[in-house]
Amino acid sequence: MIQVAVLGYGTVGSGVVEVLEKNKAEISLRAENELNVKYILDLRDFPGDPYEAKVVHDVNVILDDPEVKIICETMGGMEPAYSFSKRALESGKSVCTSNKELVAAHGPELLELAKANNCNYLFEASVGGGIPIIRPMNYSLTAEKIEAITGILNGTTNYILTKMEREGADFAEVLKEAQEKGYAERNPEADVEGHDACRKIAILSSLMTGKYVKYQDIYTEGITKITAEDFKYAKELKTSIKLLGRSKDAGDGYEAMVAPFMIPDEHPLHAVNDVFNAVFVRGNMLGDAMFYGRGAGKLPTASAVVSDVVDCARHLGKTIICLWDKEEVELKDYKDTSKQFFLRVKKEDLENAKEVFNAEKVLEIIEGEAGIVTPVMTEREFEEKAAKLPQMITRIRMEN
Ligand code: HSE
Repeated sequence: MIQVAVLGYGTVGSGVVEVLEKNKAEISLRAENELNVKYILDLRDFPGDPYEAKVVHDVNVILDDPEVKIICETMGGMEPAYSFSKRALESGKSVCTSNKELVAAHGPELLELAKANNCNYLFEASVGGGIPIIRPMNYSLTAEKIEAITGILNGTTNYILTKMEREGADFAEVLKEAQEKGYAERNPEADVEGHDACRKIAILSSLMTGKYVKYQDIYTEGITKITAEDFKYAKELKTSIKLLGRSKDAGDGYEAMVAPFMIPDEHPLHAVNDVFNAVFVRGNMLGDAMFYGRGAGKLPTASAVVSDVVDCARHLGKTIICLWDKEEVELKDYKDTSKQFFLRVKKEDLENAKEVFNAEKVLEIIEGEAGIVTPVMTEREFEEKAAKLPQMITRIRMEN
């Protein structure tokens, strides 16, 4: 029997305990060993909970117990998750986590620590919730040179954008409703400003390059400025607006960005709606592959954590290879990356805007203004041209 501890008995942590219990037979078979939750660490007590007796408040009880071989870190946030994970790995205990902030910030260091101590630091649940994507990147796509990754990596924003599109509603209205229903956090900044998606694309980009893509280097824009009017244009252009995390080997360097994009109806990511996530991977031999599913939620995320627990159980005393070096990747300046843009201008600026941007398409569907699709240009060129239009209403990037 292998003893497991769970740090943090919140949504994901309680899900981990539930998955381990409900699928005990299947999990034991696959882990070739029985797994038992010996401790649950939390500040709170849980009177009446079936696992009440396993709750401890002092992490040392877990870290000092040589029987505990695998730890699920489902606390989230940087501290104390970082210190607890380091101490666990230093004492040879494997750590399985859903903590994208911590993985994005300290992944290479924690992986190195795991290797030095013949254990594992696994993070399947940190990107795409229940969708298998980290293990496919590490195990299945090993014959590929990954050229690009494009993902819908945040369920909250995808839910909001889907609702805005379907109901013609504005951002603030849908956010309020999502918060009332518990789909969006009371403090939704990490989601709606794109920070959560940024951590996730940083992790995927690091696995794509085998080096360290720092999330701080990734240009990030959220969805707070997207309006119901933008969706009217999107529909006319046979596109939808999605918050994308994008990473690409452009030949002359790596690009990474998080921003709302118009994506065409025929793109596979176009059909990814509501809280669903998807990761679209382009390999140089495979071509395109898409990983789709529930990117958040108690049981899907817990299932991914437990899949890591099984992997750790299969590899006790042995480190699973994960190529994520400490060497930092210098990303291309986002201003040197190229794409098409959609912009909205006031009616009186239309003639000027058409000329400045060499407009490929003009849409006049809302009174008093117009929409323009530009040719492919760099962000720098776009900004220079936009400076000549001080009254520009908005701009949205376009994915092709
Ligand atoms: N807040 C995240 C989301 C949770 O909405 O996708 C999963 O990481």
